Amino acid sequence: MNLFIKNIRQLVTVAAHGKPFKRGAEMRELHIVENGAVLIEDGIIRAAGSTNEIPQPNTIDVLDADGRIALPGFVDSHTHLVFAGSREDEFAMRAEGKSYREIAASGGGILSTMAATRAATKKELLHVAERRITEMLKHGTTTIEIKSGYGLSLESEAKILDVISILRRDSLATIIPTFLGAHAFQTEFNNDKQHYVDLIIARMLPYIGERTLATFCDVFCDEGYFDLHQTENILLEAKRYGLIPKLHADQLASIGATKLGAELNAASVDHLEHLTSDGIEALKKSSSVATVLPGASFFLQEPYAPARSIIEAGIPLAIATDFNPGSTMCFSMPMMMTIACTQMNMTPEEAITAATLNGAAALGLSGELGSIEAGKQADIVLYDVPQYRFLPYHYAFNHVWRVVKNGTVLEF
Ligand code: NIG
Ligand code: FE
Repeated sequence: MNLFIKNIRQLVTVAAHGKPFKRGAEMRELHIVENGAVLIEDGIIRAAGSTNEIPQPNTIDVLDADGRIALPGFVDSHTHLVFAGSREDEFAMRAEGKSYREIAASGGGILSTMAATRAATKKELLHVAERRITEMLKHGTTTIEIKSGYGLSLESEAKILDVISILRRDSLATIIPTFLGAHAFQTEFNNDKQHYVDLIIARMLPYIGERTLATFCDVFCDEGYFDLHQTENILLEAKRYGLIPKLHADQLASIGATKLGAELNAASVDHLEHLTSDGIEALKKSSSVATVLPGASFFLQEPYAPARSIIEAGIPLAIATDFNPGSTMCFSMPMMMTIACTQMNMTPEEAITAATLNGAAALGLSGELGSIEAGKQADIVLYDVPQYRFLPYHYAFNHVWRVVKNGTVLEF
């Protein structure tokens, strides 16, 4: 937990200088130190600067980066990584022209993963989730938000949240739990959707709130899923239990979800493929982070969220993977940055800020992590690349050389 890292060719600090996030033109300011060094004590960064200026202590471990590049560990602020089974047959159906919604309507989609997840034991879920987290760490992600949402009953949602609690306690990554009971309606509620909303409010939220099984409460607020009224009721009640709102907003259609999220002070509104100018205006007046999920658009052949308009409106923008078996079977943050740069016209600098500091802001954690600055958690990833722009440029290859998590060099 005490470590001195030296000879970093580019120390990409993404320094926020006390601000909770970067927005607008600030997103391009990475505050890079050439030939950098980082001094870590008790897992916390004590100093980050130039190798020539920070004296090398003679009592602690030294990691000679020998010209590698360092970035803050990625913060993946939106995943659904606790699930069983897989949906490659749906992937094949989409290749033949079927849409995500058509597949869901014919019994596939979220409900098919629900069935597999319900059938799995806690031990099985834990096992697959641990493997995924290890791979994510290997790819440079050190903080992961995980949503429930493939249980859709009190018992099964509680099982998933228990698994997330164990991961939180035992895993090397920082894990943040989110309750997403309002992810879909299982078939028995098709004719009485309100019944399920009542169940979430009367049974699930109290259960989760009393046991502090989640930090956030998310709702899939979209056409054919939870409407504005249901979403508002769930999130207002969630707040009473201390859960902070998040929303899946504007993914399939514009029904006003982003505006609702902004009004409810959601930590973030996520997806935004169909974000409207009203949504942008609402976000400008709020402190919610706009989280875009480039992998979902890429994988489902859907429109991309208007990242340029969001950035130009001065709204803090984060990038996350949305890792899940239906819409994004990918947990690589560098891959998301590549898609953001090639399909959403973001610059590599904006993508890096969005995948680190602003992702931390979407989780309310940017005071503790997301940049390489004194006082923050020492989550630093070193890459074997000539310069930081190489990362999104040479895509679908893992460039990680070493992962430092809470000041410890991980051994894989
Ligand atoms: O964020 N949109 C809702 N939920 C997920 C997809 C879940 C699934 O298809 O299993 C998403 O894209
Ligand atoms: Fe999602």
